[in-house]
Amino acid sequence: MVKIYFKKEDVTIAIEAGTTILQAAKKAGVLIESPCDAIGTCGKCKVRLEKVDDDRTMIREGQVYHRVTEEEESRGIVLASRLRYLGILLL
Ligand code: FES
Repeated sequence: MVKIYFKKEDVTIAIEAGTTILQAAKKAGVLIESPCDAIGTCGKCKVRLEKVDDDRTMIREGQVYHRVTEEEESRGIVLASRLRYLGILLL
């Protein structure tokens, strides 16, 4: 199990390793807009990673950054539907 903390909603959820941020949000009752249903084409599920305990444990799936600019990436922005994580996140 890994933990994700959604700062704005003040919700922490423990999930199975490999779960996407979007799947975790849905399980926690946190709304993240996702009109393409996690296919990775709409770019609407952007979230900002505030803290990552170990960057090596993130799994970025294909096309994860096709809607994320370099400037956004430098600020920790990712697509929630295309990022799986194996550690502790603060969003
Ligand atoms: S839900 Fe469409 S890119 Fe994430």
